[in-house]
Amino acid sequence: MQALRIINEDHSNLWRLISTIDHVADELDDGAPFDPFFFNSVFDYIEHFVDRAHHPKEDDFLFRILRLRSDEAAAILDPLQREHREGPGSLRALRTLCGEVTNDPTRRPAFLAALRAFTAMQKNHIATEEKYAMPLARRVLTTEDWAEIDRAFLDRNDPLFGDQAKAEFVELYHRVASLAPDSIGLGGRTAGHLQKSSEPLKAEVLLTVTGMQSCYGRIQALKGISMEVRRGETVALVGANGAGKTTFLRALSGVQPMSGGSIHFDGNDITNIRSDLRMRRGICQSPEGRQVFGPLSIEDNLRLGAYTQPKHQVEGDLEKIFTMFPILKEKRKLPAGTLSGGQQQMLAIGRALMGRPKLLLLDEPSMGLAPLLVQEVFNVVKSLKAQGMTILLVEQNAFAALAIADRGYVLETGKVTLTGTGQELISNEQVRAAYLGM
Ligand SMILES: Nc1ncnc2c1ncn2[C@@H]1O[C@H](COP(=O)(O)OP(=O)(O)OP(=O)(O)O)[C@@H](O)[C@H]1O
Ligand SMILES: [Mg+2]
Repeated sequence: MQALRIINEDHSNLWRLISTIDHVADELDDGAPFDPFFFNSVFDYIEHFVDRAHHPKEDDFLFRILRLRSDEAAAILDPLQREHREGPGSLRALRTLCGEVTNDPTRRPAFLAALRAFTAMQKNHIATEEKYAMPLARRVLTTEDWAEIDRAFLDRNDPLFGDQAKAEFVELYHRVASLAPDSIGLGGRTAGHLQKSSEPLKAEVLLTVTGMQSCYGRIQALKGISMEVRRGETVALVGANGAGKTTFLRALSGVQPMSGGSIHFDGNDITNIRSDLRMRRGICQSPEGRQVFGPLSIEDNLRLGAYTQPKHQVEGDLEKIFTMFPILKEKRKLPAGTLSGGQQQMLAIGRALMGRPKLLLLDEPSMGLAPLLVQEVFNVVKSLKAQGMTILLVEQNAFAALAIADRGYVLETGKVTLTGTGQELISNEQVRAAYLGM
Protein backbone atom coordinates (compact mmCIF):
# COMPACT_ATOMS: atom_id res chain seq x y z
CA MET A 1 0.00 0.00 0.00
CA GLN A 2 2.93 2.32 -0.71
CA ALA A 3 0.74 4.08 -3.26
CA LEU A 4 -1.61 5.25 -0.51
CA ARG A 5 1.30 6.72 1.41
CA ILE A 6 2.46 8.58 -1.70
CA ILE A 7 -1.03 9.88 -2.45
CA ASN A 8 -1.38 10.92 1.14
CA GLU A 9 1.91 12.84 1.02
CA ASP A 10 0.80 14.51 -2.21
CA HIS A 11 -2.42 15.49 -0.48
CA SER A 12 -0.59 17.01 2.49
CA ASN A 13 1.55 19.11 0.17
CA LEU A 14 -1.44 20.21 -1.85
CA TRP A 15 -3.46 21.03 1.20
CA ARG A 16 -0.69 23.36 2.37
CA LEU A 17 -0.57 25.02 -1.04
CA ILE A 18 -4.36 25.42 -1.23
CA SER A 19 -4.49 26.87 2.28
CA THR A 20 -1.79 29.31 1.23
CA ILE A 21 -3.85 30.42 -1.77
CA ASP A 22 -6.80 31.02 0.55
CA HIS A 23 -4.63 33.18 2.83
CA VAL A 24 -3.42 35.22 -0.12
CA ALA A 25 -7.00 35.62 -1.33
CA ASP A 26 -7.97 36.97 2.12
CA GLU A 27 -5.15 39.47 1.91
CA LEU A 28 -6.23 40.57 -1.55
CA ASP A 29 -9.71 41.12 -0.15
CA ASP A 30 -8.11 43.47 2.35
CA GLY A 31 -6.48 45.40 -0.47
CA ALA A 32 -3.02 43.80 -0.63
CA PRO A 33 -1.15 44.29 -3.94
CA PHE A 34 -1.88 41.74 -6.64
CA ASP A 35 1.06 39.68 -7.92
CA PRO A 36 0.31 37.76 -11.12
CA PHE A 37 3.71 36.00 -10.99
CA PHE A 38 2.83 34.38 -7.70
CA PHE A 39 -0.48 33.07 -9.02
CA ASN A 40 1.02 31.86 -12.26
CA SER A 41 3.70 29.96 -10.38
CA VAL A 42 0.96 28.35 -8.29
CA PHE A 43 -1.00 27.46 -11.42
CA ASP A 44 2.15 26.02 -13.04
CA TYR A 45 2.72 23.84 -10.02
CA ILE A 46 -0.85 22.61 -9.97
CA GLU A 47 -0.85 21.99 -13.70
CA HIS A 48 2.37 19.97 -13.67
CA PHE A 49 1.99 18.24 -10.39
CA VAL A 50 -1.74 17.73 -9.95
CA ASP A 51 -3.09 17.52 -13.48
CA ARG A 52 -0.14 15.82 -15.16
CA ALA A 53 1.14 13.53 -12.45
CA HIS A 54 -1.03 13.14 -9.38
CA HIS A 55 -4.39 12.64 -11.14
CA PRO A 56 -3.13 10.29 -13.90
CA LYS A 57 -1.50 8.08 -11.25
CA GLU A 58 -4.84 7.78 -9.51
CA ASP A 59 -6.91 7.39 -12.67
CA ASP A 60 -4.72 4.85 -14.44
CA PHE A 61 -3.98 2.57 -11.53
CA LEU A 62 -5.75 3.02 -8.23
CA PHE A 63 -9.17 4.10 -9.48
CA ARG A 64 -9.20 1.80 -12.50
CA ILE A 65 -8.58 -1.29 -10.39
CA LEU A 66 -10.88 -0.09 -7.62
CA ARG A 67 -13.76 0.04 -10.11
CA LEU A 68 -13.09 -3.59 -11.04
CA ARG A 69 -13.20 -4.72 -7.43
CA SER A 70 -16.14 -2.88 -5.92
CA ASP A 71 -19.70 -1.95 -6.90
CA GLU A 72 -19.52 0.98 -4.51
CA ALA A 73 -16.60 2.50 -6.39
CA ALA A 74 -18.49 4.21 -9.21
CA ALA A 75 -20.57 6.41 -6.89
CA ILE A 76 -17.42 7.68 -5.18
CA LEU A 77 -15.11 7.83 -8.17
CA ASP A 78 -17.42 9.29 -10.85
CA PRO A 79 -17.51 12.78 -9.33
CA LEU A 80 -13.82 12.63 -8.42
CA GLN A 81 -12.78 11.69 -11.92
CA ARG A 82 -15.08 14.31 -13.42
CA GLU A 83 -13.16 16.84 -11.32
CA HIS A 84 -9.88 15.38 -12.59
CA ARG A 85 -11.07 15.95 -16.16
CA GLU A 86 -12.27 19.47 -15.40
CA GLY A 87 -9.04 20.47 -13.63
CA PRO A 88 -7.09 21.77 -16.64
CA GLY A 89 -10.12 23.79 -17.82
CA SER A 90 -10.55 25.45 -14.42
CA LEU A 91 -6.89 26.36 -14.38
CA ARG A 92 -7.11 27.90 -17.85
CA ALA A 93 -10.08 29.99 -16.73
CA LEU A 94 -8.17 31.13 -13.64
CA ARG A 95 -5.14 32.08 -15.72
CA THR A 96 -7.36 34.14 -18.02
CA LEU A 97 -8.97 35.95 -15.08
CA CYS A 98 -5.56 36.50 -13.52
CA GLY A 99 -4.41 38.14 -16.75
CA GLU A 100 -7.52 40.34 -16.76
CA VAL A 101 -6.90 41.59 -13.21
CA THR A 102 -3.43 42.69 -14.24
CA ASN A 103 -4.93 45.04 -16.83
CA ASP A 104 -8.17 45.88 -15.11
CA PRO A 105 -8.30 46.01 -11.29
CA THR A 106 -12.11 45.94 -11.32
CA ARG A 107 -11.84 42.28 -12.32
CA ARG A 108 -10.30 41.46 -8.96
CA PRO A 109 -13.57 40.28 -7.29
CA ALA A 110 -14.35 37.98 -10.22
CA PHE A 111 -10.88 36.47 -10.00
CA LEU A 112 -11.08 36.03 -6.24
CA ALA A 113 -14.50 34.39 -6.49
CA ALA A 114 -13.22 31.91 -9.07
CA LEU A 115 -10.10 31.29 -7.00
CA ARG A 116 -12.14 30.55 -3.88
CA ALA A 117 -14.45 28.24 -5.78
CA PHE A 118 -11.36 26.44 -7.04
CA THR A 119 -9.74 26.02 -3.63
CA ALA A 120 -13.01 24.91 -2.05
CA MET A 121 -13.40 22.31 -4.78
CA GLN A 122 -9.80 21.11 -4.30
CA LYS A 123 -10.19 20.79 -0.55
CA ASN A 124 -13.44 18.93 -0.90
CA HIS A 125 -11.84 16.69 -3.49
CA ILE A 126 -8.89 15.80 -1.29
CA ALA A 127 -11.15 15.23 1.70
CA THR A 128 -13.44 12.94 -0.30
CA GLU A 129 -10.53 10.86 -1.53
CA GLU A 130 -9.13 10.54 1.97
CA LYS A 131 -12.49 9.83 3.57
CA TYR A 132 -14.10 7.50 1.05
CA ALA A 133 -11.87 6.40 -1.82
CA MET A 134 -8.79 5.42 0.15
CA PRO A 135 -10.62 3.48 2.88
CA LEU A 136 -12.54 1.60 0.20
CA ALA A 137 -9.27 0.75 -1.53
CA ARG A 138 -7.85 -0.52 1.74
CA ARG A 139 -10.89 -2.74 2.19
CA VAL A 140 -11.32 -4.30 -1.21
CA LEU A 141 -8.03 -4.39 -3.10
CA THR A 142 -6.06 -7.61 -3.12
CA THR A 143 -2.36 -8.12 -2.50
CA GLU A 144 -1.83 -8.54 -6.24
CA ASP A 145 -3.72 -5.30 -6.93
CA TRP A 146 -1.46 -3.46 -4.51
CA ALA A 147 1.62 -4.98 -6.10
CA GLU A 148 0.57 -3.61 -9.49
CA ILE A 149 -0.45 -0.19 -8.15
CA ASP A 150 2.65 0.18 -5.99
CA ARG A 151 4.90 -0.83 -8.86
CA ALA A 152 3.48 1.98 -10.94
CA PHE A 153 3.69 4.52 -8.14
CA LEU A 154 7.24 3.61 -7.22
CA ASP A 155 8.68 3.40 -10.73
CA ARG A 156 11.53 5.91 -10.58
CA ASN A 157 12.07 6.00 -14.35
CA ASP A 158 8.51 6.81 -15.15
CA PRO A 159 8.32 10.19 -16.89
CA LEU A 160 5.37 11.14 -14.70
CA PHE A 161 6.53 10.03 -11.28
CA GLY A 162 10.28 9.57 -11.76
CA ASP A 163 13.11 11.50 -10.17
CA GLN A 164 13.34 13.96 -13.05
CA ALA A 165 9.66 14.79 -12.72
CA LYS A 166 10.04 15.15 -8.97
CA ALA A 167 12.95 17.52 -9.39
CA GLU A 168 10.75 19.63 -11.63
CA PHE A 169 7.99 19.77 -9.02
CA VAL A 170 10.50 20.82 -6.39
CA GLU A 171 11.72 23.59 -8.71
CA LEU A 172 8.16 24.76 -9.28
CA TYR A 173 7.41 24.60 -5.58
CA HIS A 174 10.51 26.65 -4.79
CA ARG A 175 9.31 29.26 -7.25
CA VAL A 176 5.93 29.42 -5.53
CA ALA A 177 7.69 29.69 -2.18
CA SER A 178 10.02 32.44 -3.31
CA LEU A 179 7.17 34.47 -4.82
CA ALA A 180 4.75 34.00 -1.93
CA PRO A 181 4.03 37.24 -0.08
CA ASP A 182 6.20 37.79 2.97
CA SER A 183 3.27 37.50 5.32
CA ILE A 184 2.62 33.98 4.09
CA GLY A 185 5.66 32.20 2.79
CA LEU A 186 5.26 28.49 2.51
CA GLY A 187 6.54 25.62 4.53
CA GLY A 188 3.48 24.44 6.32
CA ARG A 189 1.10 25.86 8.82
CA THR A 190 2.28 26.80 12.25
CA ALA A 191 2.68 23.69 14.29
CA GLY A 192 2.27 25.37 17.65
CA HIS A 193 4.26 24.95 20.82
CA LEU A 194 5.05 21.98 22.94
CA GLN A 195 5.34 21.77 26.69
CA LYS A 196 8.91 21.16 27.68
CA SER A 197 9.01 17.79 29.35
CA SER A 198 12.25 16.25 28.27
CA GLU A 199 15.03 15.78 30.78
CA PRO A 200 17.93 18.02 29.86
CA LEU A 201 20.72 15.92 28.39
CA LYS A 202 23.94 15.68 30.31
CA ALA A 203 26.31 15.81 27.38
CA GLU A 204 28.22 18.98 26.65
CA VAL A 205 26.93 21.36 23.99
CA LEU A 206 28.91 21.08 20.75
CA LEU A 207 27.03 23.54 18.56
CA THR A 208 25.05 26.62 19.51
CA VAL A 209 23.38 28.69 16.83
CA THR A 210 21.83 31.97 17.93
CA GLY A 211 19.49 34.11 15.85
CA MET A 212 20.85 32.98 12.50
CA GLN A 213 19.58 35.01 9.55
CA SER A 214 20.30 34.60 5.87
CA CYS A 215 18.93 36.08 2.65
CA TYR A 216 18.79 35.46 -1.07
CA GLY A 217 18.54 38.98 -2.40
CA ARG A 218 15.32 40.36 -0.98
CA ILE A 219 14.08 36.97 0.24
CA GLN A 220 14.89 36.31 3.85
CA ALA A 221 15.25 32.55 3.96
CA LEU A 222 16.31 32.32 7.63
CA LYS A 223 14.62 34.62 10.11
CA GLY A 224 16.54 34.12 13.31
CA ILE A 225 17.17 30.45 13.98
CA SER A 226 18.43 29.33 17.35
CA MET A 227 19.26 25.76 18.20
CA GLU A 228 21.85 23.57 19.81
CA VAL A 229 23.38 20.16 19.35
CA ARG A 230 25.09 18.24 22.12
CA ARG A 231 27.97 15.87 21.68
CA GLY A 232 26.78 12.45 20.55
CA GLU A 233 23.26 13.63 19.78
CA THR A 234 21.36 13.02 16.59
CA VAL A 235 19.22 16.08 15.96
CA ALA A 236 16.64 16.13 13.20
CA LEU A 237 15.63 19.30 11.40
CA VAL A 238 12.36 18.76 9.59
CA GLY A 239 10.09 20.98 7.54
CA ALA A 240 8.37 21.27 4.19
CA ASN A 241 9.86 22.30 0.83
CA GLY A 242 11.42 25.70 1.04
CA ALA A 243 11.34 25.95 4.84
CA GLY A 244 15.04 26.83 4.87
CA LYS A 245 16.65 23.55 5.89
CA THR A 246 19.32 23.55 3.19
CA THR A 247 20.03 27.23 3.66
CA PHE A 248 20.55 26.59 7.37
CA LEU A 249 23.05 23.77 6.77
CA ARG A 250 24.88 25.79 4.13
CA ALA A 251 25.14 28.74 6.47
CA LEU A 252 26.48 26.42 9.16
CA SER A 253 29.17 25.07 6.91
CA GLY A 254 29.98 28.59 5.75
CA VAL A 255 29.10 28.44 2.06
CA GLN A 256 25.99 30.59 2.48
CA PRO A 257 26.47 34.09 3.93
CA MET A 258 24.73 34.99 7.18
CA SER A 259 23.16 38.38 7.67
CA GLY A 260 22.74 38.04 11.41
CA GLY A 261 23.31 35.76 14.36
CA SER A 262 26.21 33.69 15.61
CA ILE A 263 27.60 30.16 15.62
CA HIS A 264 29.59 28.65 18.46
CA PHE A 265 31.20 25.32 17.79
CA ASP A 266 33.33 23.21 20.05
CA GLY A 267 34.05 26.10 22.36
CA ASN A 268 34.80 28.73 19.72
CA ASP A 269 32.93 31.48 17.92
CA ILE A 270 33.15 30.44 14.26
CA THR A 271 30.62 32.95 12.91
CA ASN A 272 33.20 34.70 10.79
CA ILE A 273 35.54 31.95 9.72
CA ARG A 274 35.79 30.48 6.21
CA SER A 275 34.09 27.28 5.17
CA ASP A 276 37.31 25.27 4.66
CA LEU A 277 38.42 26.22 8.15
CA ARG A 278 35.08 25.14 9.59
CA MET A 279 35.56 21.82 7.83
CA ARG A 280 39.01 21.51 9.32
CA ARG A 281 37.47 22.04 12.74
CA GLY A 282 35.09 19.20 12.10
CA ILE A 283 31.89 20.44 10.44
CA CYS A 284 31.49 18.17 7.43
CA GLN A 285 28.48 18.08 5.18
CA SER A 286 26.87 15.61 2.85
CA PRO A 287 25.04 18.09 0.64
CA GLU A 288 21.52 18.06 -0.76
CA GLY A 289 21.37 16.14 -4.01
CA ARG A 290 24.64 14.35 -3.08
CA GLN A 291 26.80 16.38 -5.52
CA VAL A 292 29.41 13.72 -6.14
CA PHE A 293 31.88 14.46 -8.93
CA GLY A 294 30.56 12.19 -11.67
CA PRO A 295 33.64 11.88 -13.90
CA LEU A 296 36.05 11.33 -10.97
CA SER A 297 36.54 7.85 -9.60
CA ILE A 298 34.81 6.83 -6.42
CA GLU A 299 38.12 6.67 -4.62
CA ASP A 300 39.11 10.17 -5.74
CA ASN A 301 35.77 11.50 -4.60
CA LEU A 302 36.46 10.07 -1.17
CA ARG A 303 39.98 11.50 -1.13
CA LEU A 304 38.54 14.93 -1.90
CA GLY A 305 36.62 14.69 1.37
CA ALA A 306 39.95 14.44 3.17
CA TYR A 307 41.64 17.45 1.62
CA THR A 308 41.75 19.32 4.91
CA GLN A 309 43.23 16.29 6.69
CA PRO A 310 46.85 15.25 7.27
CA LYS A 311 48.04 12.90 4.49
CA HIS A 312 49.17 10.07 6.73
CA GLN A 313 45.69 9.24 7.96
CA VAL A 314 43.96 9.17 4.56
CA GLU A 315 44.70 5.56 3.53
CA GLY A 316 43.49 4.20 6.84
CA ASP A 317 40.33 6.30 6.74
CA LEU A 318 39.65 5.18 3.17
CA GLU A 319 39.76 1.56 4.31
CA LYS A 320 37.31 2.35 7.12
CA ILE A 321 34.86 3.82 4.63
CA PHE A 322 35.30 0.80 2.37
CA THR A 323 34.53 -1.49 5.29
CA MET A 324 31.37 0.47 5.93
CA PHE A 325 30.32 0.52 2.29
CA PRO A 326 31.75 -2.56 0.55
CA ILE A 327 30.07 -1.64 -2.73
CA LEU A 328 32.23 1.49 -2.91
CA LYS A 329 35.35 -0.63 -2.52
CA GLU A 330 34.25 -2.97 -5.27
CA LYS A 331 33.73 -0.06 -7.63
CA ARG A 332 36.50 2.20 -6.32
CA LYS A 333 38.13 2.78 -9.74
CA LEU A 334 34.88 3.53 -11.59
CA PRO A 335 33.58 7.04 -12.23
CA ALA A 336 31.19 8.08 -9.46
CA GLY A 337 28.60 8.91 -12.11
CA THR A 338 28.15 5.20 -12.79
CA LEU A 339 26.78 4.58 -9.27
CA SER A 340 23.07 4.30 -8.56
CA GLY A 341 21.34 7.04 -6.56
CA GLY A 342 21.58 5.09 -3.33
CA GLN A 343 25.25 4.30 -3.87
CA GLN A 344 25.97 7.95 -4.63
CA GLN A 345 24.35 8.82 -1.32
CA MET A 346 26.65 6.36 0.45
CA LEU A 347 29.56 7.99 -1.39
CA ALA A 348 28.46 11.46 -0.32
CA ILE A 349 28.24 10.32 3.31
CA GLY A 350 31.58 8.53 2.98
CA ARG A 351 33.16 11.67 1.56
CA ALA A 352 31.90 13.72 4.51
CA LEU A 353 33.25 11.09 6.93
CA MET A 354 36.70 11.36 5.31
CA GLY A 355 36.87 14.85 6.83
CA ARG A 356 36.71 13.23 10.31
CA PRO A 357 33.64 15.19 11.37
CA LYS A 358 32.91 16.17 14.93
CA LEU A 359 29.53 17.20 13.58
CA LEU A 360 28.14 15.47 10.50
CA LEU A 361 25.57 17.45 8.51
CA LEU A 362 23.29 15.35 6.32
CA ASP A 363 20.98 17.15 3.91
CA GLU A 364 18.07 14.92 2.89
CA PRO A 365 20.07 11.72 2.50
CA SER A 366 16.92 9.78 1.62
CA MET A 367 15.79 12.16 -1.11
CA GLY A 368 14.86 10.54 -4.40
CA LEU A 369 15.67 7.03 -3.24
CA ALA A 370 13.46 3.98 -3.62
CA PRO A 371 11.92 2.89 -0.28
CA LEU A 372 14.32 0.05 0.28
CA LEU A 373 17.30 2.33 -0.15
CA VAL A 374 15.70 4.92 2.08
CA GLN A 375 15.71 2.29 4.79
CA GLU A 376 19.34 1.53 4.07
CA VAL A 377 20.36 5.15 4.36
CA PHE A 378 18.59 5.45 7.70
CA ASN A 379 20.35 2.29 8.82
CA VAL A 380 23.67 3.94 7.99
CA VAL A 381 22.70 6.99 10.02
CA LYS A 382 21.66 4.74 12.91
CA SER A 383 24.96 2.92 12.86
CA LEU A 384 26.93 6.18 12.80
CA LYS A 385 24.87 7.34 15.76
CA ALA A 386 25.58 4.07 17.54
CA GLN A 387 29.29 4.74 17.02
CA GLY A 388 28.89 8.05 18.84
CA MET A 389 28.87 10.42 15.87
CA THR A 390 27.12 13.76 16.40
CA ILE A 391 24.65 14.22 13.58
CA LEU A 392 22.42 17.01 12.34
CA LEU A 393 19.97 15.34 10.01
CA VAL A 394 17.81 17.37 7.66
CA GLU A 395 14.88 15.50 6.19
CA GLN A 396 11.55 15.93 4.51
CA ASN A 397 11.00 12.33 5.47
CA ALA A 398 10.06 13.65 8.88
CA PHE A 399 8.78 10.46 10.43
CA ALA A 400 11.89 8.40 9.71
CA ALA A 401 14.18 11.22 10.80
CA LEU A 402 12.36 11.91 14.07
CA ALA A 403 12.18 8.19 14.78
CA ILE A 404 15.95 7.92 14.99
CA ALA A 405 16.67 11.38 16.39
CA ASP A 406 17.22 12.23 20.04
CA ARG A 407 15.68 15.63 19.47
CA GLY A 408 14.13 17.52 16.62
CA TYR A 409 13.37 21.03 15.43
CA VAL A 410 10.48 21.89 13.12
CA LEU A 411 11.36 24.64 10.69
CA GLU A 412 8.70 26.71 8.92
CA THR A 413 9.45 29.55 6.54
CA GLY A 414 12.79 30.26 8.08
CA LYS A 415 11.75 29.98 11.74
CA VAL A 416 11.84 27.24 14.35
CA THR A 417 8.23 26.67 15.36
CA LEU A 418 8.52 23.61 17.53
CA THR A 419 11.15 21.58 19.31
CA GLY A 420 11.15 18.49 21.48
CA THR A 421 12.45 14.97 21.63
CA GLY A 422 11.99 12.89 18.48
CA GLN A 423 9.21 10.94 20.15
CA GLU A 424 7.44 14.04 21.45
CA LEU A 425 7.37 15.50 17.98
CA ILE A 426 6.17 12.25 16.41
CA SER A 427 3.28 12.08 18.84
CA ASN A 428 2.42 15.78 18.54
CA GLU A 429 -0.97 16.12 16.83
CA GLN A 430 -0.03 19.17 14.81
CA VAL A 431 3.23 17.69 13.60
CA ARG A 432 1.40 14.54 12.64
CA ALA A 433 -1.13 16.48 10.64
CA ALA A 434 1.34 18.84 8.99
CA TYR A 435 4.32 16.62 8.32
CA LEU A 436 3.57 13.00 8.88
CA GLY A 437 0.37 12.83 6.89
CA MET A 438 -1.59 11.22 9.73
N1 LIG B 1 19.55 30.00 -4.72
C1 LIG B 1 18.41 30.55 -4.27
N2 LIG B 1 17.99 31.74 -4.73
C2 LIG B 1 16.85 32.32 -4.27
N3 LIG B 1 16.06 31.76 -3.33
C3 LIG B 1 16.42 30.57 -2.85
C4 LIG B 1 17.61 29.90 -3.30
N4 LIG B 1 17.69 28.73 -2.64
C5 LIG B 1 16.63 28.68 -1.82
N5 LIG B 1 15.87 29.79 -1.95
C6 LIG B 1 14.64 30.11 -1.20
O1 LIG B 1 14.96 30.11 0.17
C7 LIG B 1 13.97 29.46 0.94
C8 LIG B 1 14.55 28.29 1.68
O2 LIG B 1 15.03 27.33 0.76
P1 LIG B 1 15.82 26.03 1.19
O3 LIG B 1 16.34 25.40 -0.03
O4 LIG B 1 16.79 26.36 2.26
O5 LIG B 1 14.65 25.15 1.80
P2 LIG B 1 14.65 23.61 2.18
O6 LIG B 1 13.93 23.55 3.48
O7 LIG B 1 16.00 23.03 2.10
O8 LIG B 1 13.69 23.00 1.07
P3 LIG B 1 13.73 21.54 0.38
O9 LIG B 1 13.00 20.64 1.32
O10 LIG B 1 12.95 21.73 -0.88
O11 LIG B 1 15.14 21.15 0.15
C9 LIG B 1 12.88 29.09 -0.06
O12 LIG B 1 11.93 30.13 -0.07
C10 LIG B 1 13.60 29.02 -1.38
O13 LIG B 1 12.72 29.28 -2.45
MG1 LIG C 1 16.74 21.50 1.00
